[in-house]
Amino acid sequence: MGERDQIYRFSLLRRIEHGVLMVAFVVLAATGLPQKYPQSPVSLALLQAMGGLENARIIHRAAAIALMLLALEHIGSALYDLYVRRVPPSILPTREDLRNAWRALRYNLGLTGSPPRQGWFTFQEKFEYWALVWGLLIMGLTGFMLWNPITTARFLPGQWIPAAKVAHGSEALLAVLAILIWHVYHVHIRRFNRSMFTGYLSRAEIEEDHPLALEAPPRPAPLDPLEARARARRFWAAYGTLATLWLVGMVWFVSGEKTAVTSPGPIPDIARVRAYAPLTPTPVPTPSYLGRGGADIGPTWGEGIGAFLEENCGFCHGPQRREGDLDLTTYEGVLRGGKSGPAVIPGAPGISPVLIWTALEDHPGRLRASERAAIWLWIQNGAPR
Ligand code: HEC
Repeated sequence: MGERDQIYRFSLLRRIEHGVLMVAFVVLAATGLPQKYPQSPVSLALLQAMGGLENARIIHRAAAIALMLLALEHIGSALYDLYVRRVPPSILPTREDLRNAWRALRYNLGLTGSPPRQGWFTFQEKFEYWALVWGLLIMGLTGFMLWNPITTARFLPGQWIPAAKVAHGSEALLAVLAILIWHVYHVHIRRFNRSMFTGYLSRAEIEEDHPLALEAPPRPAPLDPLEARARARRFWAAYGTLATLWLVGMVWFVSGEKTAVTSPGPIPDIARVRAYAPLTPTPVPTPSYLGRGGADIGPTWGEGIGAFLEENCGFCHGPQRREGDLDLTTYEGVLRGGKSGPAVIPGAPGISPVLIWTALEDHPGRLRASERAAIWLWIQNGAPR
């Protein structure tokens, strides 16, 4: 097969892009999936080979930065081809691709004798390209949320962060499986297609897979040099702006937060770490101990308790309503009590009606634990005035 029988398919730039993408993809999968499946022995071996989880995370982020730069470069070169060189956008999906997909399905099921005749990019190739674009978008967005959880939580509910983690991991698995099944089948098993490395595809392969490209090869639209130069100027102005914004955004993306990047490192000297072993039995709470929580009410009738009871119980147990014949707004009233005798028995919080009734389900006046503890302590201390 002579040189003439080779058809130029991928420019050097496209092949470099593919190389960078391939390396970054493998690195991302090798550093990311072990984080998704940390229990697997394969993950452990990979993480160990990389020198630990912390290293894996740093390498993962470096590869993500490479992909962000690649995306910026690719958007630029695609727009340049389209707008300045006026190359037809043969990668865009068309209606014909849908028909071709249907024809390919029928062909694979043996319902028709020949596969669809396709052009410069087959529907399979377009599908893979746009799946990649979509996947990168998802990975970029969810990656940002995981890299910058605090910033994210400022704009979105907190549940979005674990949701982003699930989406990031699942999309990763989907991408790896798509490469292993779809990509490997189409470019390695079906036929070993080396064009992404050599740049060329044989005429025979083009005839078989891209017959329409031979009949109507994608050619740049002719353009006069002045118009071409004007277009190039406009392109660089617009792309310069986009690239600046993109790079500024990337700096924000990468350095916005330190939170997600650090994880506790290995324990420096494991021999010196002592497990917690209490030498004294856990103290049992005593009534006076309970008092701690209620210090804000005050220790005597005059210094808090009286005011508290008047405020919280006086509405029903005051001079006017006297529910249960009980007035809790005066010290005397408390000691005299109501229908069931003294409301407070100094020194005996356990049998003082003030604490019993406020614990009853159907009594409207209730006490919080800390208030209960304060009153308990006050009665325990002899209900000082
Ligand atoms: C919304 C009204 C209401 C509030 C507020 C209220 N209680 Fe009562 N309390 C009652 C009623 C009604 C009874 C039952 C009277 C009866 O025996 O028929 C009662 C009964 C009591 C009794 C028993 C009286 C007796 O001798 O039979 C005590 C003690 C008591 N309350 C303490 C308190 C304390 C302490 C508070 C404040 C934390 C409080 N109550 C807040 C309505 C209230």
